[in-house]
Amino acid sequence: MRLVLLLALAATPIATAQADQDRVRANYLLACRGCHLVDGSSVPPEVPSLRDTLGQFLSSEEGRGYLVRVPGVAQSRLNDEELAEVINWVLTEFNAASLPKSFRPFTAKEVAKVRGDILADPAGYREELLAKLAE
Ligand code: HEC
Repeated sequence: MRLVLLLALAATPIATAQADQDRVRANYLLACRGCHLVDGSSVPPEVPSLRDTLGQFLSSEEGRGYLVRVPGVAQSRLNDEELAEVINWVLTEFNAASLPKSFRPFTAKEVAKVRGDILADPAGYREELLAKLAE
């Protein structure tokens, strides 16, 4: 009996973490799947893939900001907290191979700070960013 109780207690944090992951995934499906599909593969070239292509943007503040300021993200109906979670989930779930070791997860505060500054020309800004990152 005691052992069962101990096992149940030990399993709780894992169950909670799983519930969190399920909630975040549900928000991704709700807010992003329409354009980026269930697995993030999207419909290139119009809608860029979210798989193993995003790590490169994390090496500068501008690049981090870009991930929040693209219209599909910035204008999502998710609140700042939910959006930060979804972006972190997309990065760890679909971009694990390209994530820098120094990866610092997005916070609601960081999202709130930049999401109002929606990119008017995301493709042009992306090109500029990538040119800078390649320097
Ligand atoms: C209405 C369609 C649509 C929805 C919904 C949408 N996106 Fe996008 N997303 C795009 C398009 C199109 C682009 C290319 C930039 C542009 O033209 O806005 C893009 C670009 C991006 C990029 C930049 C990728 C790169 O390589 O440059 C990221 C990151 C992204 N979206 C994440 C998300 C996330 C996360 C969500 C959900 C919160 C989301 N998007 C919802 C259509 C969408």
